[in-house]
Amino acid sequence: MSKVVVFDHPLIQHKLAIMRDKNTGVKEFRELLEEISMLMIYEVTRDLETEVVEVETPIQTCKCRKLAGRKLAVVPILRAGLGMVDGVLNMVPAAKVGHIGLYRDPETLEPVEYYCKLPADSTEREIVVVDPMLATGGSASAAIKFIKQRGCSHIRLVNLIAAPEGVARMQADHPDVDIFIAALDEKLNDHGYIIPGLGDAGDRLFGTK
Ligand code: PRP
Ligand code: URA
Repeated sequence: MSKVVVFDHPLIQHKLAIMRDKNTGVKEFRELLEEISMLMIYEVTRDLETEVVEVETPIQTCKCRKLAGRKLAVVPILRAGLGMVDGVLNMVPAAKVGHIGLYRDPETLEPVEYYCKLPADSTEREIVVVDPMLATGGSASAAIKFIKQRGCSHIRLVNLIAAPEGVARMQADHPDVDIFIAALDEKLNDHGYIIPGLGDAGDRLFGTK
């Protein structure tokens, strides 16, 4: 069974409260999503491997630690996942970026793939899939299925807000993928929106409604 980590850090919760507010505009919403993504990736990467290296300071040499092992690739689920990429790259500038385009059919709520381009060496990388919302879990589950079909096996999922239904779906479909979230909300409404959630993340991020 995969691990579900909820970040209850006061800074993350404060920023998320502002994002949830229906009166928060596009500019602030976008900035806050980037800031929260930056804070979250700091913890999401806590278990990355390091190796001891020798560094010569102006005073003397000393043993330090540097990242070793698998490098990162961040893969946003289009569109709303794009809002989390810069936050990740601020902390891990050398990460490569893949893209998966999925939209949720408004009738069936099923995910439809319209784009997938991953870094050439993504099978060698630690893949961090990002998307602000985990609702039914259909989009994340499908995205991760497509990523696995391309040979990747080290994958973690980072969302801002999750519904219990989405977490259950992910854990059933991908028990090997740990999930990192800022909030676990109550449930879904009849239209597949998270309650209380923050509304449509893509529309709020890009101002399309
Ligand atoms: C939203 C969100 C997730 C998906 C979550 O995207 O960003 O990708 O819904 O819902 P699910 O867990 O039930 O699949 P949407 O399909 O609205 O597309 P968009 O990002 O292009 O707005
Ligand atoms: N997608 C969103 O953007 N918001 C939700 O609440 C559910 C799916």
